[in-house]
Amino acid sequence: MSKNNFIPVNTPLLDGNELKYVTECITTGWISSEGPFVDKFESALAQYTDRRHGIAVANGTAALDIAFSAIGLKKGDEVILPSHTIISCILQIIRIGAIPILVDSELKTWNMDVDEIESKITSKTKAILAVHLYGLPCRIDKIIEIADKHNLYVIEDAAQMIGQTFNGKPCGSFGHISTTSFYPNKQVTTGEGGMCLTNDDDLANKCRSFRNLCFQTESRFVHKELGWNYRMTNIQAALGLAQVEKLDEHVVLKRKIGNKYSELLKDISGFNLPLMETEYAKNIYWVYGIFLNENSKYNAKEAMLLLQEAGIATRPFYYPMHLQPVFQEDKLFEGQEYPNAEILYNRAFYIPSGVGFTENDVEAVSKVLIDLFKV
Ligand SMILES: Cc1ncc(COP(=O)(O)O)c(C=O)c1O
Repeated sequence: MSKNNFIPVNTPLLDGNELKYVTECITTGWISSEGPFVDKFESALAQYTDRRHGIAVANGTAALDIAFSAIGLKKGDEVILPSHTIISCILQIIRIGAIPILVDSELKTWNMDVDEIESKITSKTKAILAVHLYGLPCRIDKIIEIADKHNLYVIEDAAQMIGQTFNGKPCGSFGHISTTSFYPNKQVTTGEGGMCLTNDDDLANKCRSFRNLCFQTESRFVHKELGWNYRMTNIQAALGLAQVEKLDEHVVLKRKIGNKYSELLKDISGFNLPLMETEYAKNIYWVYGIFLNENSKYNAKEAMLLLQEAGIATRPFYYPMHLQPVFQEDKLFEGQEYPNAEILYNRAFYIPSGVGFTENDVEAVSKVLIDLFKV
């Protein structure tokens, strides 16, 4: 068990060239976004994900904001996305005045139910946001097929899935723009950070411009569009480069943690474990989710509270977008139902993992869970 007998929900691993590269930033004085590690990090992740361009930004939410603006999303356009996801996915859609069109999730994979997408397409649909959640990719092949048929943009939110593949192709390589996050619970971390990845030169230029206040090369302070300062610093990128160098090892560690949990918890009744694999991917266990049975003796809130009392941090699954209080006044999703999104929120949560997590930690958490759920 960790220090103070408390196991945090995530522990990053910074045991490669992180210190060396960050020291280089300090000794050379290159600490802003102008420093050389930004380009190096962008190229390294773009190469890893089979992309021509990487545009490093301040965080994963910023990457999504930029991606929606780069595809030219306008007021009144519709974007299809899952109800069960993080709020980051919907923010820029709402701010632009576009309309989020939700789909429900699958209870088996916890990802968006792509079979619901086609019936939601209208003449106003501009894009599909494909979000990979928890450890298995969503059916990005089907999403691309539908998008191609209807001439729609696909943005792939690969925040949780860098290092994962879909049918052998890297997550982050699909769709017009992919976005990712480098928060410390990710396989690659820069503390805070994100990236847009694309093969399209024009979209890449737009992403770069939106990231940097839409300054113009010819007349810097004359603006034709509104951007953000979403730049990533050289120090963050230095961390990122060192992390990409270790990405394959991090993926192995993540899978080791996940598989160990599955082995230790396999005989417990009361909850379902994450699927180990599907025909298109092996679980990367971005986090290790616990999905309580209908007749489990606890709901997710109760189980999380008991684990907290035992010194184990947990997080709930996402609160569905259609139930968010912030959208209620505008009656954005009034009368809409996404039952599986609600089931996932009520009956699922995740337990500690993280690339820096040890086998002892896995054993300690599993022991508490086994005790809690014994009949
Ligand atoms: C699927 C998904 N999208 C977007 C984000 C937002 O990333 P950030 O926290 O870096 O803004 C996250 C963060 O965890 C995420 O999991």
